[in-house]
Amino acid sequence: MAYEPSIPTVDLAELAGPDPTARSRAEAALREGFGECGLVYVRTHGVSDIGALYDRFLAFTARSAEDKERFNRNDLWFQRGWTPPDTEKAVVGTGQPDFKECWFAAPEALDPGLRAQYPEIFCDNVWPDDDAAFAALDLKLGHELHVAGLALLRGCARALGLPEDGFTSRAEGGAHVFRLLRYLPLTEAQTSQKVVWGEEHTDFNLITLLPGGRFHAPDGSVSAAPDAGSGLYLRTRPSAEHPEGRMVRGTAPAGCIVAQVGQQLEILTGGTFLATPHVITAPHTAGYSRLSAAHFVHLHAHQIVFPLPEFRTDEAVQAYAPPVLAGTYAIKTLVDIGLAPPTALNKLGYRHYDRLASIRAREAGEG
Ligand SMILES: [Fe+2]
Repeated sequence: MAYEPSIPTVDLAELAGPDPTARSRAEAALREGFGECGLVYVRTHGVSDIGALYDRFLAFTARSAEDKERFNRNDLWFQRGWTPPDTEKAVVGTGQPDFKECWFAAPEALDPGLRAQYPEIFCDNVWPDDDAAFAALDLKLGHELHVAGLALLRGCARALGLPEDGFTSRAEGGAHVFRLLRYLPLTEAQTSQKVVWGEEHTDFNLITLLPGGRFHAPDGSVSAAPDAGSGLYLRTRPSAEHPEGRMVRGTAPAGCIVAQVGQQLEILTGGTFLATPHVITAPHTAGYSRLSAAHFVHLHAHQIVFPLPEFRTDEAVQAYAPPVLAGTYAIKTLVDIGLAPPTALNKLGYRHYDRLASIRAREAGEG
């Protein structure tokens, strides 16, 4: 029988618990899942039901476009507040912006030293007015997902023979961001045009936690998926037999959340763990929308995005050179996906070419 990639489930209580047999079983599941699919399902994760937060976010999205524009923080590269539809795009895609609107917030305390250095990324949260429950629920869920992410990262470090804090110590104070998403209903015409909700991409952070989504029917009621067309699909590691990898559906078993490897974790591990290319397909039925959420754990902005010494083979160096600061890496990626303006890249080089040019112009004028 042909090999069917299957996604392992990691029990967080076992991964962090005292039983060595259960721990090594959970670590083996992490190595297999993150090594081949870039993804695991996680149970006993300690993350609360997200339904009440989805209710608050849905209420916000129902406000008028004009009202929502007050929370459009393109000056913060959309890292806080509301992201309008048709803004973000995948780096390798058709160029079609994703059919979604989002809300970004930072659930963890920021490194105060980074605010002045990265003002658009390390900035204060903004919240919808007239809804105190939104902020409280958002911060609670984001924090719970972050705690689960740190437990997984400690397990990853042990599973790879690194000191337990090998990843978490590098993530402390990073630009962790919790994002709410609403994938928009498609028209009848769009459902036949192969329009996707989220283009195929890899996440650029360390690890991503997905607590699970919720469909809404055209009448606004909470609904089951209208058909089998919609979902999260991920691309497994390419092999000789399947040079393009294989597309696998990433639907978590009931009660589980999903954890995904991001680019930073792939690079630190020299490719031992794989950043999962994934796509969010839309249903074939018009009028259905979907709420979803993702928490992104990032490296601290001053960490170097380069294979750790334990993974620094010639092949890994060739694949991931040159080393880049995580903060620089973030700016470049935010430009690539359309959230930061291209001029942000000018900050990454010497600033005063213009000063030299003006001095020389003055010199020429005097001569
Ligand atoms: Fe993603």
